[in-house]
Amino acid sequence: MKQLRGLLDSISTGIVALDANLRIVAVNAAGQALLETSEARCIGQHAGNLILRSADWLESLQHALANNMPHASRGVSLLLVSGQDIRVDIITTPVLDGDGAFKLVVELTAVERLLNISRHENAQHAQETSRALIRGLAHEIKNPLGGVRGAAQLLAKELPNAALAEYTDVIIREADRLRDLVDRLLGPNRQLATELLNIHEIIEHVRNLITAESGNRVIVKRDYDPSLPEFHCDRAQLIQAVLNIMRNALQAAAPALDHCEIILRSRSQRQFTIGATLHRLVCRIDIIDNGPGIPADLIPAVFTPMVTGRADGTGLGLSIAQSIIYLHGGALECDSRPGETRFTLYLPMDTHDA
Ligand SMILES: Nc1ncnc2c1ncn2[C@@H]1O[C@H](COP(=O)(O)OP(=O)(O)OP(=O)(O)O)[C@@H](O)[C@H]1O
Ligand SMILES: [Mg+2]
Repeated sequence: MKQLRGLLDSISTGIVALDANLRIVAVNAAGQALLETSEARCIGQHAGNLILRSADWLESLQHALANNMPHASRGVSLLLVSGQDIRVDIITTPVLDGDGAFKLVVELTAVERLLNISRHENAQHAQETSRALIRGLAHEIKNPLGGVRGAAQLLAKELPNAALAEYTDVIIREADRLRDLVDRLLGPNRQLATELLNIHEIIEHVRNLITAESGNRVIVKRDYDPSLPEFHCDRAQLIQAVLNIMRNALQAAAPALDHCEIILRSRSQRQFTIGATLHRLVCRIDIIDNGPGIPADLIPAVFTPMVTGRADGTGLGLSIAQSIIYLHGGALECDSRPGETRFTLYLPMDTHDA
């Protein structure tokens, strides 16, 4: 029985078993994650209690029960009790020769999630191609730049007239500015220095930086899951990623910083697929701001390097953040509308050598 339970919990499809009165008898880990519930909360409950406005859901269950035949409904929209709206494919199978313990087995697959997985794979591929191009270009700029700077320094020492140093200073200063830009273009260090860390310590560090940067004007609300275990990650790089995301929120809200509110939320998620890998346990961090939102025409390319909506932006912040999350085997997603912009980081917690 225990083995069977392990088997059920290791598949990524949500499974719910119901009795003849549509009361929940069992639900696997993926089912609990999808329906945002726990065994303790839902066993014995009527299936209708899981979903608000449950007519479609109950209809597909009753259909299978009444006809004693499997029934499939595709792309059904379910409003969970938590307020979250999910789109799922539902396959309901009556159990003909069950021992009476359960009468119906319901399989639930999130449709949006599947779309997201392929979108994520495409995004990662496109991102890697453009980053490789930019990294190559950055290398080519960096080498001669060192030469230009060195020559200007030598020249400065040989100048017959000190007033002329103004010009060599300009060369050196601009070369330094260009070097900093090129360093950012080269992106994060590809080698992660991982250690066992508490993700909240990292987020709190960034929260302090951002609060100070805003002169204590933004309100940062925290909604952490204190039970999140420590996991292997690169502290400095994750600080950079979260900082880039939060700094954007500050900059977008700049004219009205006093009204800027950022919510930091952490959760664990079981049985979660990133790319093509199903992870047993994933850490999910939401960074939500109430600013004006990302301009609609920018949203499809917001993670592409050098795409910016700001006059003085380099358009590298999010691309760097995304690279860092990818290096951790994770994913970064974004959803934005005026008044609510959400960046979601997923970091696998079950890899020990990320
Ligand atoms: N929270 C947000 N609210 C509104 N717009 C955003 C938000 N985050 C990002 N953006 C938009 O996405 C663009 C790209 O962001 P990104 O951080 O990649 O580059 P940048 O901020 O322009 O420049 P850099 O970070 O390199 O200084 C921003 O210019 C901004 O227009
Ligand atoms: Mg930025």
